[in-house]
Amino acid sequence: MRNRIIALGATLTVLLLVIIGYNLLIKDDTVVNKAVTQNDSSTSQTVNNTASESSSTNSENSTTQNNNSSSENKDNTTSTGNKTPETVTQPTYINGIMIANKKNPLPKNFNPGEDATARANINKLIADAQNQGLNISNQTSGFRSYDTQASLYNNYVAAHGQQQADTFSARPGYSEHQTGLAYDLIDNQGQLLGAAGTINTSKEAAVWVAQNAHKYGFIVRYKEEFVNQTGYMAEPWHLRYVGNEIALEIYNKNISLEQYLGASGGDYNN
Ligand code: DAL
Ligand code: ZN
Repeated sequence: MRNRIIALGATLTVLLLVIIGYNLLIKDDTVVNKAVTQNDSSTSQTVNNTASESSSTNSENSTTQNNNSSSENKDNTTSTGNKTPETVTQPTYINGIMIANKKNPLPKNFNPGEDATARANINKLIADAQNQGLNISNQTSGFRSYDTQASLYNNYVAAHGQQQADTFSARPGYSEHQTGLAYDLIDNQGQLLGAAGTINTSKEAAVWVAQNAHKYGFIVRYKEEFVNQTGYMAEPWHLRYVGNEIALEIYNKNISLEQYLGASGGDYNN
């Protein structure tokens, strides 16, 4: 009898130990699961934050562009949209800066004329250059309407073929000249400043422009090293007004406007 009681006691003790051990295992699992769940939710929170940061960026741009069509403005900030001058209703602005390139067309009917501030500053730049004896004329090619750009581009296509024309002339609706903020500088021989085949003084003037345009709020928009971003061959004569602060930053960093704004660029979608 005594032996039986001892055996029963031992069995019960073993049973108790098994039950306690099992409970401990379950608790550990719960802790692990909880940790995984927490990690998961913090990961998704990060993703959500990123998403909302970009959507707040989008809405900032939307505010600048157009207050009444968020889906349209969202298109303006994507890199894969297929916008055309016929489909867009507003120019694309990023952080308040207008961008016109092969991915970001202007509306066909966008016709702002020449920007007065840009004009005042290009006049100062030309006057200072002339005072230093540089070969820059008062003549410029500034604002161009959609229709003017259309006839210019069509002439280039007729003369050189479309593939070639697309490397140096914008299709109508895609030209920065239509913004009213761009100028082509011209030398006293009537040639585009520093273009291939121009005399040395024209090239020297273009070098001065590259080093000093930012002091007047301009950037040299199409540089050799940024062809893949801007979509055009180098044009030492083509200046774009962005204001002194941004021009200085772009000059110091030696980046394209696309890079500065984080804007889509490169070639046409089709
Ligand atoms: N030559 C520049 C790219 C234009 O046509 O706007
Ligand atoms: Zn130009």
